[in-house]
Amino acid sequence: MDAKNWVSVVLFTLAFTGFYAIILLPYSSNGVLGELRSLIPDILTAWHSTAPKALQEEAAGRVILSPNLTTCHQSLSDADVPVYCCPPKRESEEAFIDFQFPDPSSLTLRIRRPAHLVDDDYIAKYNKALSIMKSLPYEDPRNFMRQANMHCIYCTGAYNQQHSNSLLKIHRSWLFFPWHRMMLYFHERILASLIGDDTFALPFWNWDSPAGMVIPRMYMNGSFRDPERDASHLPPQVADIDFDYVESGLDPQDQIATNVAFMYNQMVSGAKKTELFMGCPYKPGEEGFCDGPGTIELAPHNALHTWVGSNLNPERENLGAFYSAARDPIFYAHHSNIDRLWEVWRGLQGAKAEIHDPDWLDSYFFFHDEKSQLVRIKIRDVLDITKLGYDFQKVDLPWLNARPKPAVSPKIARYMLKTREDDQNVLPRHTTDKVGFSFGPEGRTLDTAVRVKVPRPKILRTKKEKEEEEEVLLVYGIDIKKDVYVKFDVYVNAIDETRIGPESREFAGTFVNMRHGVRLVMNRGDATVKRKTNLKLGISELLEDLEADGDESIWVTLVPRGGTGLHISIDGIRIEYMR
Ligand SMILES: *[C@@H]1O[C@H](CO)[C@@H](O)[C@H](O)[C@H]1NC(C)=O
Ligand SMILES: *[C@@H]1O[C@H](CO)[C@@H](O)[C@H](O)[C@H]1NC(C)=O
Repeated sequence: MDAKNWVSVVLFTLAFTGFYAIILLPYSSNGVLGELRSLIPDILTAWHSTAPKALQEEAAGRVILSPNLTTCHQSLSDADVPVYCCPPKRESEEAFIDFQFPDPSSLTLRIRRPAHLVDDDYIAKYNKALSIMKSLPYEDPRNFMRQANMHCIYCTGAYNQQHSNSLLKIHRSWLFFPWHRMMLYFHERILASLIGDDTFALPFWNWDSPAGMVIPRMYMNGSFRDPERDASHLPPQVADIDFDYVESGLDPQDQIATNVAFMYNQMVSGAKKTELFMGCPYKPGEEGFCDGPGTIELAPHNALHTWVGSNLNPERENLGAFYSAARDPIFYAHHSNIDRLWEVWRGLQGAKAEIHDPDWLDSYFFFHDEKSQLVRIKIRDVLDITKLGYDFQKVDLPWLNARPKPAVSPKIARYMLKTREDDQNVLPRHTTDKVGFSFGPEGRTLDTAVRVKVPRPKILRTKKEKEEEEEVLLVYGIDIKKDVYVKFDVYVNAIDETRIGPESREFAGTFVNMRHGVRLVMNRGDATVKRKTNLKLGISELLEDLEADGDESIWVTLVPRGGTGLHISIDGIRIEYMR
C-alpha cells in the first residue's frame, strides 16, 4: 500500500472507532478529546470526498469479490495431481498500488494484429521479448512461468475470497472476459518493456476467420514453440473450434463452413442478452458462485484449449488444462482473440449490453506490472481499451451474416416430428407439464442422446417483445459426476441429430466443461465447488428460422459428445425469458 492509502485507512479506522465515541462525549469536555472531536469529522468529510466510492463502501463493510492474498494455497491440477502456483513471496507481503491508466499524452496506441498476418520483423521482436521473459529468474514476477501461474492461481482456486472461505475462480461466469483482459494487459506491457518498445502489442489468433483457422505458423518456431501440443492438429490442419475430443472428420472446406456457422450462433443468435454472452453474475461469498459460462467461453474458448493441447498428456496439457494453459505462448494469442470478440460483441449490441452492477464493476484482482509493482485493478478499469492504450486491427467478420439454414425443411420436419409424437417408444419416461420437462429427482444420465418435448409458455410474441425478452432454453440441474471434461450439444426440432452439427439451424448450442481440479482446499470448512449447473441458450431467432414460433412445444435433443455422457446427468429442460 502506498503512503496515501495508509493514511486513508488509518484515518478511516480512527474515524470509525473514534467518531461515535466522540459524539457521545459530553460537549463540555475539553483538552485532547475536544480537539479530536473538532478534527475528526473534517477528516472524515475529506476522506469521503477523495476516496473512490467502492472503497469507502468496502471499508464500511460491503463485501466485494476479490482474492484474500494471504491465503494462496496448493490446488489440484486437472489430473488430480496437486499443483502449487503461488508466488515465492506472498503477495500480501508486498505493497500494492491502485491501477492508473497509462498517460494518454505519451501514449502510442498498441495495435494487436492477426497472428497469421504479422511480418518477420514483428515475430523476431516478439520472439526476443519472450525469450527474455523466459530467462528471468522465477523470483521475478515478470518471468514467463510466473505469468503462466497467474492463470493457474485464479483458475484452480489457489486464493480464497476475502471475507469467505470460498475459492475464487475466474472461469464460468462474468469474470471470464475482464479477468483475462487484465492478465493480457500486464503481460503485453511487460513484453514491451523487456525490449523497450512502447508500440509492442500481442497478436491475436484470428480463428473466427477462415484464413486464421489453423495454428498460426509463428507458433511453430523459436520461443513460441511448445512441444506439448496435439501433433495431428499442427498446421495445416484446420481447427475444429467446437472440438469435442473426437476428430470431426470433416474436409477443410466443410470444417471452415461449420466453424463459421458456429461462430454465428455463439456471437449473434445465441448471444442476444448480456448474460448469454458474458456468463452469469458471480457474487462474493459461499453461495455466490454461479457456474454459467457465456457462449464464447464454452466454445470456441474451451474447445480450442482442448484441441491444441497434447493428446498424449492426461488432460491435454499444456493448453488443454487450466493450470498449465498459459505455459503455451499461443494462450496469449487465443485470449487476445477472445478479448477482441468481447469488443466486437459490445459493438454489435450497443449500450444496452453493458453491465452496471457494482458487484461486477468493483470486483478486483492483483497483477504485477512491467515495473514488478503489484497493482490492484478493478473490472471498471478495463472497460475502455483505448484508455488502456491498445486496439485491434479491424478484420472481416465472416460469421456476421452466416445465419445457418435448417438441415430439413421446416415443413417436412413438422410432419416427421408429428409422426415421432405418435410413436410412444421414442419418449423417455418423463413428466411434461406446463413449465417444462423434468426427469424427476434422479435426473437422466446422458449415456445416449435424449429427446424430449418441451412446452413453450408463450407463442408468437411480437418483434418488440422478443427484443425485450429473449426466449431461453434452460437445461437445468446439470450434474457432472466426476471432475472430467464433458460436452454435449443441444438441438431443437432435429430429425436426425446424428447427421447434423453447428452448420445447421437446429443446433442451439453446446455445453463444455474443462476439468478444474479445485477440490483441494486450505482449511477445513473451505467451500468446494457447487457441482450442479445450468445451461442457458438463446433461441428466439432459431425458432423463427425453424418456423416453430407458433408451436406450443418443441423437441429438444441433447447429444453427448466425446464419449463423456456417462458422467453427466440433467434434471430437466424448460423455457424461460431473459431480459
Ligand atoms: C484472509 O485470510 C486470512 C488467513 O486465512 C484470515 O485470517 C483473514 O481473516 C482473511 N481476511 C479477509 C479479509 O477475509
Ligand atoms: C525460426 O526462428 C528462428 C529464431 O528463433 C529464426 O532464425 C528462423 O528463421 C525461424 N525459422 C522459420 C522457419 O521461421
